[in-house]
Amino acid sequence: MPVITNIEDLRVLAQKRVPRMFYDYADSGSWTEGTYRANESDFQKIKLRQRVAVNMENRSTATTMIGQKVAMPVAIAPTGLTGMQHADGEILAARAAKAFGIPFTLSTMSICSIEDVAQGTDGHPFWFQLYVMKDRDYIERLIDRAKAAQCSALMLTLDLQIIGQRHKDLKNGLSAPPKLTVANILNMMTKPRWGLGMLGTKRHGFGNIVGHVKGVENMGSLSEWTAKQFDPALNWGDVEWIKKRWGGKLILKGIQDVEDAKLAVDSGADALIVSNHGGRQLDGAESSIRALPAIVDAVGQHIEVHMDGGIRSGQDVLKARALGARGTYIGRAFLYGLGAMGQAGVTKALEIIHKELDLTMAFCGHTQIETVDQRILLPGTYPV
Ligand code: GLV
Repeated sequence: MPVITNIEDLRVLAQKRVPRMFYDYADSGSWTEGTYRANESDFQKIKLRQRVAVNMENRSTATTMIGQKVAMPVAIAPTGLTGMQHADGEILAARAAKAFGIPFTLSTMSICSIEDVAQGTDGHPFWFQLYVMKDRDYIERLIDRAKAAQCSALMLTLDLQIIGQRHKDLKNGLSAPPKLTVANILNMMTKPRWGLGMLGTKRHGFGNIVGHVKGVENMGSLSEWTAKQFDPALNWGDVEWIKKRWGGKLILKGIQDVEDAKLAVDSGADALIVSNHGGRQLDGAESSIRALPAIVDAVGQHIEVHMDGGIRSGQDVLKARALGARGTYIGRAFLYGLGAMGQAGVTKALEIIHKELDLTMAFCGHTQIETVDQRILLPGTYPV
């Protein structure tokens, strides 16, 4: 067993252990993948200021996101098909997040259902991410199911009414469960741990959808299904009825532009996430960390600003926090842990990020995450 010291180690292991179509689904962006790459590389351009001879005892990374206590300003992002990276993946990741003291967000496009996750975590509150489909009765029932499961926030994604093209998914014929083509069977035969796990669970399809949306028994390819079912007419008026129907904390995901950030404030949401969907939607959009400062400047007094995209280390979390993000989200970083080693791998990913965050904060002369601000960054190296 190799010694795992960083998220890249988990990625390499996940690539070995997860069937190609699901690994590729996670590790890809749309079209040229330029935005996907920029999300990571723009973090590298931001430099830190080292401070010395500061008492570094009694450090804490604890803070809050939408008023809820978190052990560090990191939540698990909603990611589709998580239960295909590893059997029962959503339940395992939610358990790891619960034990660590950070929020877990379940995607509408998950394999394990809302009810599966609620049961698998003994009713511990999690966040639920909503995609809006044309069938509004279904959406109302889905919101009600999230309420019944005691979800403590609803995260409405605004940047995926239509789906960006990810070349690898089309080439691999991505679907859940995977189609039993010769190429897929040959590839899965090289992933025995994954296969054994899958034999041990009945959760192989989209748990929130199949059996809940009228007429949907089999979804075929993800891109085809999304094109048919997702509502391209979604607009700010819908945010209003969804907010009302939900009645709890609301987070809007997918804001990249200051004008949209102002509309998010007007909607009365509790938080917005500066996000380009991990570079999976509009290729050519700027990286999230570059988009963040202007949005914080424009609306940070009126709404909690979070961000996702490109976070692969605790240093990235600290930089985002210094630039005004109250919270951050990890998607691929936890998926790689999950694909590599199941629940223990997600825990490992969280431990790695926490340690990097804690040590970097200390090297920058802070013992409390709450006191960190832009002054820890080297002027001229940001907004990047
Ligand atoms: C869905 O959220 C995706 O990005 O594939």
